[in-house]
Amino acid sequence: MNNEHYFTPQPTSESASREITARLRGEEYRFVTEAGVFSRSRIDPGTRLLANSLPLPEQGKMLDLGCGYGPVGIAAAKEQPKLEVVMVDVNQRAAELAKLNARLNGVTNVDVRSGEDFQVAPEQDFVIIATNPPIRAGKRVIYPLLTRAKEHLVPGGILYVVIRTRQGAASMEKHLETTYSRVETIARGSGYRVFAAYN
Ligand SMILES: C[S@@+](CC[C@H](N)C(=O)[O-])C[C@H]1O[C@@H](n2cnc3c(N)ncnc32)[C@H](O)[C@@H]1O
Repeated sequence: MNNEHYFTPQPTSESASREITARLRGEEYRFVTEAGVFSRSRIDPGTRLLANSLPLPEQGKMLDLGCGYGPVGIAAAKEQPKLEVVMVDVNQRAAELAKLNARLNGVTNVDVRSGEDFQVAPEQDFVIIATNPPIRAGKRVIYPLLTRAKEHLVPGGILYVVIRTRQGAASMEKHLETTYSRVETIARGSGYRVFAAYN
């Protein structure tokens, strides 16, 4: 299996694009996807759970960390037009698709950036950060990233993370508890859990 979408800045696979549709937060969306990006044939069930369960503030800044072709950030931005949604992905192809998909769905309150996590999103005033993390990159990559996220949240800000229950949810919860003041599970389904970790 080609896993280059997990952490490859410039995928080398051929970029045959296709369009998928999805209902998220009660709205229909169209997403153009390509080879070399995460879950290109359908919205990943973890992504769907995260996108649908996020409590959204009406305004302020949100970060979609590892946005892929954009489902989480675009659905949030569409529902809350005053929210400023920063979307970042290290995979340039994914970031380009996220920009395209924002336009395709009539969403303008997004700022899509191509590059590594907090290097391209250095702000420290995100009200929420949402992520379906690149789990195959391994704990040694993901855990420090989730720890660093805290420095980029406003006081009382919340990090939302989706993880497959059997892919280390229990140990991720313990890890989050070492950094954040409180951690709770806000949604479960299709074998996934969404954690909320409070700054
Ligand atoms: C599991 S995918 C989720 C994609 C999208 N949010 C979704 O749910 O469909 C994780 C994404 O994180 C990106 N990624 C991995 N490491 C990253 C980093 N250090 N900074 C930004 N993005 C990263 C990958 O390129 C990939 O698109």
